[in-house]
Amino acid sequence: MDIETYVRELPKAELHLHIEGTLEPELMFELARRNGVALPWKSVDETRAAYAFEDLQSFLDLYYAGAAALVREADFFDLAMAYFERAAADGVVHAELFFDPQTHTARGLAYETVLDGLERACVTARERFGIGSRLILCFLRHLSEEEGFATLEQALPHLARIHGVGLDSSEMGHPPSKFARLFARCRELGLHLVAHAGEEGPPDYIVEALDLLQVERIDHGVRAAESPALMARLVREQIPLTVCPLSNVKLCVFATLADHNLKAMLEAGIKVTINSDDPAYFGGYVGKNFVDTATALSLSRSELKRIARNSLEAAFVSEAERRPWLARLEALEG
Ligand code: ADE
Ligand code: ZN
Repeated sequence: MDIETYVRELPKAELHLHIEGTLEPELMFELARRNGVALPWKSVDETRAAYAFEDLQSFLDLYYAGAAALVREADFFDLAMAYFERAAADGVVHAELFFDPQTHTARGLAYETVLDGLERACVTARERFGIGSRLILCFLRHLSEEEGFATLEQALPHLARIHGVGLDSSEMGHPPSKFARLFARCRELGLHLVAHAGEEGPPDYIVEALDLLQVERIDHGVRAAESPALMARLVREQIPLTVCPLSNVKLCVFATLADHNLKAMLEAGIKVTINSDDPAYFGGYVGKNFVDTATALSLSRSELKRIARNSLEAAFVSEAERRPWLARLEALEG
């Protein structure tokens, strides 16, 4: 079995995926036309050519501009269905989708427009592809905690329709501590908690996410490698890291995939997973992240299997949902 086939056969969960980051330029232009929205680029090719990033912020500026094409409930449905179709082809059995309501409500869209479209896609994906899913509302950390509370207010009448909250956008200068009260409230409400930390930010931000926000998983977390004490803790507590290798290279966190610390983290005993982050912008969906990383770092089949197992174990699902996926995984070679 070649590596592409092996990766596709691995039952896996995608746990770090911004649904707005799956907006391919073709769909962006189609939606912009249908909604009468002006984009900063003239064509699909010009858009793709602009995807040369030097850091997280240079990407976010484009990503928020592209999101302006999303206006109606059907746009969010179409967006998520296009993702689910690709995920199914990559052997994803379960996906936890991040969405950024503040990006849309700031443009005058109703929270419900976003949620209705995404939720309808989740239901349809289960029927059409047999993929399970969860929705995780992310707060934009460049905004204030007060604005985060206002967003939580909008989400409250629909709370059962989301499974957790996360923290994304510009990391530097916006430490997890800025959102300690908001996450405490979300914890009281029974939501699962995750946060981006240690993508560009220092190891201290990861410690804050764990201690002050009490998150269950860390999104990215690759800068943990700079702190032996934190590495030991992540191993001891088996905190899952949702690592996004192609994203890290595109945003210059690592110069090349061969320089990525994913294999070293795995060998140190950290519960590493592989995810695509914003695949329309970073050159590949989760299958390509697995294959390219395996090739660059010479990951063995048993290591790939372990990464897929980590993703299934770290998913916010019941044991009854998890068990058949794990059984399928263990039946594979490697
Ligand atoms: N929003 C979308 N992708 C992101 C990333 N990689 N880091 C922070 N915020 C994001
Ligand atoms: Zn992310």
